[in-house]
Formats: sequence, structure tokens, C-alpha cells
Amino acid sequence: MTSKVLVVANRLPVEFQESDGGGTWTRSPGGLVTALDSALSRHACTWIGWSGRACDEEGPALEIPQRLHECELLEVPLTAEEVSSHYEGFCNATLWPLYHDAVAPVVYSRSTFHTYEAVNRRFCDIVASEAPRDATVWVHDYQLQLLPQMLRRLRPDVRIGFFLHIPFPPPELFGRLPWRTQILNGLLGADLIGFQTADALENFLASVNALTPATAADGFISVPGNGNENPRTVTVGAFPISIDIDHIGALATTDEIRNLAGQVRSDLGDPRTLLLGVDRLDYTKGIELRLKAIVELFEEGALNPYETVFLQIASPSRQNVEQYQRIREQVEGAIGRAVGDLSRLGTSPIQYMYQTMPSDDLVAFYMAADVMLVTPLRDGMNLVAKEYVASRIGDDGALVLSEFAGAGRELRDAWLINPYDTDGLKRAILRAVRASKTEKARRMSSLRQAVVRHDVQRWSEEFLSILNAADQQEIIDLRERAGLPL
Ligand code: F6P
Repeated sequence: MTSKVLVVANRLPVEFQESDGGGTWTRSPGGLVTALDSALSRHACTWIGWSGRACDEEGPALEIPQRLHECELLEVPLTAEEVSSHYEGFCNATLWPLYHDAVAPVVYSRSTFHTYEAVNRRFCDIVASEAPRDATVWVHDYQLQLLPQMLRRLRPDVRIGFFLHIPFPPPELFGRLPWRTQILNGLLGADLIGFQTADALENFLASVNALTPATAADGFISVPGNGNENPRTVTVGAFPISIDIDHIGALATTDEIRNLAGQVRSDLGDPRTLLLGVDRLDYTKGIELRLKAIVELFEEGALNPYETVFLQIASPSRQNVEQYQRIREQVEGAIGRAVGDLSRLGTSPIQYMYQTMPSDDLVAFYMAADVMLVTPLRDGMNLVAKEYVASRIGDDGALVLSEFAGAGRELRDAWLINPYDTDGLKRAILRAVRASKTEKARRMSSLRQAVVRHDVQRWSEEFLSILNAADQQEIIDLRERAGLPL
């Protein structure tokens, strides 16, 4: 039977990995699944989403696993045409670049928006028919922003929460979207709308005030009624997402992961300093600018190529979208040039892996790395930064972190940088490399406290308790108790 809590996200938490005519179901890539999978592992829920494979794609029929942990999984079938127009088109060629400060050109296409509407409608119909009476429906991310309003019209009995995992752009950028009012009205169908940071929330409120008749004050939005709908109040807030601290901390103490961390260093030739980058291969992650800074440091002799290695792990992502094909060519071209310029026979200070690493193995790489480079041009939160901190159980290591990642708002004791400022980035890398043990321990212990205070269990509990609060006073009390920014 469908659970009282329904999680609705574009992707199911599992996806099929093909290999040699067969394959297995593995955890889906990305921060949303990493966070939610941990947050919900102890709660009964029904997770509704797409399997990552078009339903009319040729190949063996695939049985989706019925459950993951305590969650029942329900597939929303999407055709190849819909995947191309909704997921690759409106979601990842329009909304994704626009919401990330338009760091790549934004495609405006009426036909992909129409598919976006149709796919949101498909999700809505499935949720509306599955949700038990008075259920709690938690909708996730930019792929489903029309769903809250659609669902409210069909099922006024359910509580609807929406959480945006990526940034919400400033009004001057959001205002370019020809479908801006549809999106805002879609979101305003929710009872609670959550953002990663206070900045994202502020941007959203500015657009609501400018483009709709609704008015916002003190963490609530009053939505006036119209002929068909009663006036309503929507709660909004910033709920910075986090990670499963205990799980990563426990992994970091196992012999298996510790040995793997030792193996990583020895396979890389036991460098004195290992610098690490771990990202989905995405133009928002700032991989090229990071590489440029590192190459300059090697060329100038500030980093010694005989005792330093920079390893970039990039996981394949959205490979059918043109901008992603281009960024891969650019990153790999730059890596190739750097390897050519800096290598010695049989060894190179620049190492690159293009693959999806199992999440447990990643903890070993974090443990092996002396300096972690998380330098996105724009990022909703960035869980790699938090995972690195969680894996440094000895209060060592150093984090160089972009001030344009949501995590930069919380992890103030990282070496914070502006990724566009190559000289500033180089200075921060050198400071992190050369910092004393005491300095590193001071910073890491403070970073660890910040992450421990807000782990992902707490994030989901706070969101769901505010969503299910009986009245505004209870919401105010809960927010105050949790110290959540308005
Ligand atoms: O963080 C935004 C997001 O779309 C998440 O939903 C997901 O974790 C990640 O990016 C990867 O995206 P995709 O589902 O497109 O592979």
C-alpha cells in the first residue's frame, strides 16, 4: 500500500547500469539522491520518479526493484521523445543554466516547455491517484516546479512540500524566462517551499513580489484567492541540505576504506601533497578554471611536480546535452595539454578519471587527499564539500571552497575563494597546501562542528515537521528552535 509520505523527484534513487548484455541496478548519481536516500533510509515512504531509461527504448524489459530500504519505488514512464524534450531540453538546457547564473547559454524553446508541462502533468496524475487521503507529498527540484499547483487542484486534502536543490536566480535573470509566471504559480501551489540558502529564498521572494499578486513577509507568502481558489498562506524558508555524517564517519574507520585510501596514495606514487577534485562533469563546477590555477602553480614552480599530484575525478553526466558534450571536450582538452606539458616519463602530476565512483570508495579518496578543491562557479549546496569534511575524522586535511556554492555560506572556516579570480584561487591553494598542522586542525574541527550540527536526518525532519505543523504559531516556534534562516 502507498505510504502516507510520498517523495516525488525526477529520478528514482536507482538506475540501471548496463554491462556485457546484462547489468545491475545501482544508486542514481547526484546530490539529491545521496541526501534523500540517507534521510529516508529509516522512514517508510513511496518514492515516485523516472528510472533514467526511456520506456520505449529498445533492449531488455527491466523490472525496477520494488523497494529500496523502507521506500516503495514507483516508476513514472517517460518516452525517449519526452526525455529529450523535458529532461535534456527544458530542464537541462533552459532551467539548469538559467538558475546557475546563466554561466552557459540558455535555450528558450516553446516546444520543450510544453513537454515540461506534460511531464509535470504525468507525475501529478500518478501522485494524485496513489496518495492516500491527507498524505504528505514532498516534491523535489527544478524538474517538477509546476507539479505543486497541478496537484493542489486535484487533491486539496494533501500537504505539499517543495524543495529546490539548486540555486534560485536573481529576479533580473529569472525574469527572462517567458514562462516565469507559470513557474511561480506552480510553486505557490505548495504549502511549504524550501531553498538551500537565504540568498535563493530572497531571490524567489523578489520575483514573487514583482511578478505575482502574492505578497511575502516574515517567512510567509499570502496568495490571494480568485474565482476558483481560496486565499492561502504558503510557508517559505531556507533549509540547507546536508549528508549522513554517521555513515561517512563509520566508513572512515573501517579497515577496508582506510586501506583503500593508503592504496590510492601509493598508486599515485606516494606524493607529499595530494590535491583532489570530485565533480559531476558539469560546466557549473569550474573544473577548467581550477585546472588553470593548478597548471600555473606548477609552471611557476610554486607547486613541485615531483612531490605533488592533482587528481580530478569527473563523473559522466547528461551526456546527450550539447553543452555537456562541449564541456567534456574542453576539460579533457585542457587536461591533455596539462599532462603533455607537465609529465615526466611514466608519471604525471595531473591525473584524471572520467567515471562514476562508488560512493563508499569516494570516502577513501577524500581520506587520501591533503587538499580538497571544491570551486564551482555556482552551486545550490555541494555535498562533496560536506562529505570531505565528514571523512576527515582526525581533524586534518584542507578544504578550498567557492563562495558561490551554498556550502560556502555554512563552511566559513574553509579557504573560501572566488573561482573567477585565478590569482586568488592560486593563493588559497598554496595557503592550504602550506598551512601548519595546527591551522588545519583548527579549521577542520570548526568545519566538522558546522556539518555535525546539521546532518541530513535533521534536515528532513525539520522540513517535514514544518510542513506538517498545525498552524502558523507552531511553524514560527519550530523555525526558532531549529535556528533556520527566514
Ligand atoms: O542537484 C540537482 C540535480 O539535478 C539533482 O537532482 C541531481 O542530484 C543532480 O543534479 C544530477 O542530475 P541528473 O539527475 O540530471 O543526473
